[in-house]
Amino acid sequence: MGSFTKKSAPVLGIDIGSAAVKLVELKRSGDRYQVESYAVEPLPRDAVVEKNISDLEAVSRAVRSAVKRSQTKLKEAATAVPASAAISRTLVLDSSLGEEEMEGQVNLQAEQYIPYPLEEVNLDFEVRGQAAGGDAGEVEVLLVASRNENVEARVDALSDAGLTAKVMDVDSYALENAFELIRPSLGGESNQTVAMIDIGATVTTLTVFEQGQIVYTRDQVFGGRQLTEEIARRFDMDQEEAERYQKQGGLPDSYESEVLQPFREAMAQQVNRSMQFFFGASHHSSVDQLVIAGGCAGIDGASDVIADATSTETVVANPFSQMSVSSRIKPQQLAGDAPALMTACGLALRSFD
Ligand SMILES: Nc1ncnc2c1ncn2[C@@H]1O[C@H](COP(=O)(O)OP(=O)(O)OP(=O)(O)O)[C@@H](O)[C@H]1O
Ligand SMILES: [Mg+2]
Repeated sequence: MGSFTKKSAPVLGIDIGSAAVKLVELKRSGDRYQVESYAVEPLPRDAVVEKNISDLEAVSRAVRSAVKRSQTKLKEAATAVPASAAISRTLVLDSSLGEEEMEGQVNLQAEQYIPYPLEEVNLDFEVRGQAAGGDAGEVEVLLVASRNENVEARVDALSDAGLTAKVMDVDSYALENAFELIRPSLGGESNQTVAMIDIGATVTTLTVFEQGQIVYTRDQVFGGRQLTEEIARRFDMDQEEAERYQKQGGLPDSYESEVLQPFREAMAQQVNRSMQFFFGASHHSSVDQLVIAGGCAGIDGASDVIADATSTETVVANPFSQMSVSSRIKPQQLAGDAPALMTACGLALRSFD
């Protein structure tokens, strides 16, 4: 989307979710990454609805607070539109085309794939390499487009917070990038089929990887907000307070059996259902491993109930497992937030393209 393909100087990774804005800054030292700074800044309810920004001012305020809290000095950022708001197509073009000719060809072909007038979309493309099937004279070109309003809302949210949106990615590509960070900790063969389930506040996304590449993705409306609402109702508190208790504990004993356990079961059921959809749509009837990400991966016992329900080895995503951590950051806090920071990490990796 203009800057999708550009190589760039260090950028902050900024993931705008429905519960929080997540910021990650990575630095490369030798062949390792270091977490330089990070922040998770809660968003007011309905500022982001199912991944779409509906209250620009609230989002930009949260970005500003995240920047401040993280103490980062960077002013440039990579952020993403949701995959559900992006159109991606792989085109096959003549490899001898010059840059301008290629752009012309892409625009020509784009008309046929994009159901909007081209002036209403941000369009970008990236040459992916020689076309599969082997004709040496052809290259695969990834075309990505999103409506201007999706891109502009994000550019504005950052610029109102004093940042420049240097890279506009798609969240699923950022996740694919971040997958490389957790691959070493998965063990097993590199050709494994791995399912990642991101359970956020309102959306649960199943992404299946084969050899590190996404082969399937599916969104469901389910997430931790349901648990927050139940806590608020049962224990008569407002949402903010409920969310604090949800994360930090300290609720009466009845919470565990009457609220948390049913939620865990609902979560496992949702995961199972998503997996069944994948099996139905592919030649698979199992996956080698399941990785859980998103804020709800931090719920006690989440990986156990999911492992049971799916009969699949399940681990919690930690994109920082191979990284060193700046002395400014509290390691324990980072460990707690880690599963929710996959996308933000994938975006921060754009610094090193
Ligand atoms: N340690 C924890 N224990 C329980 N719940 C948690 C914990 N940490 C975060 N959550 C819950 O996870 C949710 C936030 O997850 P996440 O940050 O992945 O969501 P998001 O990306 O903002 O939302 P979405 O992806 O749905 O747009 C909230 O409902 C929050 O209450
Ligand atoms: Mg999310």
